[in-house]
Amino acid sequence: MNKHNLPVCDYEGSDYQQSFWDSGERVYEDTVEAIALRRLLPPRGEFMLELGAGAGRNTSRYEMFNRVALLDYSRSQLEQARDRLGASERYLYVAADVYHLPFVDGIFDGATMIRTLHHMMDPQLALLQVRQVMSLGGIFVLEFANKQNLKAMLRYLLGKQDWSPFSKDPVEFANLNYDFHPKTIRCHLRTARFEVEKQLTVSHFRVNFLKRHIPVGVLVRMDALLQWTGRLIQISPSVFSRCRAAGKAHGSGEGLFKCPACGNPLQGLKKDLNCDSCGAVWVYREGIYDFRMPGG
Ligand SMILES: C[S@@+](CC[C@H](N)C(=O)[O-])C[C@H]1O[C@@H](n2cnc3c(N)ncnc32)[C@H](O)[C@@H]1O
Repeated sequence: MNKHNLPVCDYEGSDYQQSFWDSGERVYEDTVEAIALRRLLPPRGEFMLELGAGAGRNTSRYEMFNRVALLDYSRSQLEQARDRLGASERYLYVAADVYHLPFVDGIFDGATMIRTLHHMMDPQLALLQVRQVMSLGGIFVLEFANKQNLKAMLRYLLGKQDWSPFSKDPVEFANLNYDFHPKTIRCHLRTARFEVEKQLTVSHFRVNFLKRHIPVGVLVRMDALLQWTGRLIQISPSVFSRCRAAGKAHGSGEGLFKCPACGNPLQGLKKDLNCDSCGAVWVYREGIYDFRMPGG
């Protein structure tokens, strides 16, 4: 399978934000993720790329950046984000595929990818694409779903689960939903020329019984303490890493966008963009740029 036919887990038309977050009893998860982000993001920055932004649940947590580009494959998720955050100059809404980023090299000094890598059949390729659009020294905060979590280990050891949480290969627990081994992700990050500076383990108490019987404030405080252990051992279902873009600088050319089909820089803003190299036309409608390639 090459970059051009990698499948996308499409959230088009999904009520993910409402059903999973707003009414899904996930205050605990949302709060501990906010704490991890605060601990890992830099104090200030210029231009942040939020990959797999969804309906913008986290976007207001990036106030230290002057501008934020929200990228998601689903246009309807971006419409929800735009309705929530507004159409200010601060936000750029971009429908595109992580595997085919429509930005010129090296323009972002910050990036996040939260609850999105777990939809990537080819996480290595995804991370290489992210590094390409980041400037040298930029900070990338990555969250991934950890297969080597305590619950999976116990289930495996009790014979209730057939896949091993200790093996380095990903496990696809539902269609296009993957849990990864921390060592595998570290290896992918190194290959993509990211240096991991900090690692936090998050959501240690993501267990319905505990959430029902222990006040959320207590769980949050305990999780906040345990997050620091992520440097040494990772047995929580979610891992956050602060990574610095290393290696060589990807020279920033002129402009913002490039054609995701052929790589040619695109001129113009707030209008349909024509590629004068391959002839592709990328539509701009109601504040959202659409760079989705035909056929995914
Ligand atoms: C689980 S949601 C997470 C949304 C948000 N980051 C959050 O934490 O609330 C995953 C998002 O990733 C997007 N996504 C999945 N595969 C993608 C791809 N290949 N390119 C761009 N976005 C993708 C989906 O459309 C969805 O909105």
